[in-house]
Amino acid sequence: MEKVVIITGGNKGIGYGLAKEFHKNGYRVISISRNKIEKLYSVEQYQCDLSISDSIEKTMLDIFSQLDENTTKKLVLINNAGDLGIVNTLENIPTINIDYTIKVNLTAPLILNSLFIKLTKGWECKKKIINISSGAAINPYESWSLYCSSKAGIDMMTKVVAKEQKKIKNGVKIVSIYPGVVDTDMQAKARNTPKERFNSVQRFIDFYENGELSTPKQVAEKIYELEDKGKLKNGIILDVRNE
Ligand SMILES: NC(=O)c1ccc[n+]([C@@H]2O[C@H](COP(=O)([O-])OP(=O)(O)OC[C@H]3O[C@@H](n4cnc5c(N)ncnc54)[C@H](OP(=O)(O)O)[C@@H]3O)[C@@H](O)[C@H]2O)c1
Repeated sequence: MEKVVIITGGNKGIGYGLAKEFHKNGYRVISISRNKIEKLYSVEQYQCDLSISDSIEKTMLDIFSQLDENTTKKLVLINNAGDLGIVNTLENIPTINIDYTIKVNLTAPLILNSLFIKLTKGWECKKKIINISSGAAINPYESWSLYCSSKAGIDMMTKVVAKEQKKIKNGVKIVSIYPGVVDTDMQAKARNTPKERFNSVQRFIDFYENGELSTPKQVAEKIYELEDKGKLKNGIILDVRNE
């Protein structure tokens, strides 16, 4: 019997940390991202641009053709891939970029979760969805309208789907997690935005200069521990910094 985790963006940043941590703990790890990387030799990597819905569906069907409900004792989907989007006031963000960021951050997790629930219907194993959200879901940062609204959407999806699945025998458990401030390319992008476009930029420079960023490894270990100890209860929205 195997434990399997499907993770979006398992090739870098927090996702890479999660891929390594779950692998270390005996999970078969499947990653979905646009780029493959060599050092993830122990991880099955699927190339997919999550802004393209047909491609998401095809990728999920490919992945599920390689899974067997009779030999799976636990199946986890981690919606981790994300995009900060163009950092600017909403009226200064081109339509095409608004569309792209919302597709990657919100539409893709909705589609992935929908397919995950549908394709595992009737499976008797433990089923869990972990959505990587952000404190930006509840803190309105000027110039982050796309990022904040997509993360708020993720949290609401978590609440709705948790209620839907609660009624179902062996339904999928779903949670949202805020990973805190983590040393990744996304953080670098935030602190490198010119002040004229992002008035909170100094806060992000300070996180970095004061050594307040966690490493992807630290966050991944914390998330794994919370899952392993059964603390990720259905419908919960949790900030790792409070745990
Ligand atoms: N870093 C932080 O401080 C922080 C704080 C709160 C929340 N978060 C959340 O944590 C998650 C991971 O962020 P991170 O900081 O690790 O970011 P990151 O280092 O920029 O990594 C982003 C990941 O998403 C994937 N990705 C982006 N666009 C994609 C697309 N169109 N299709 C497929 N995959 C795509 C990337 O892979 P490819 O480029 O190969 O596609 C990469 O693996 C995000 O949801 C983010 O919102 C981060």
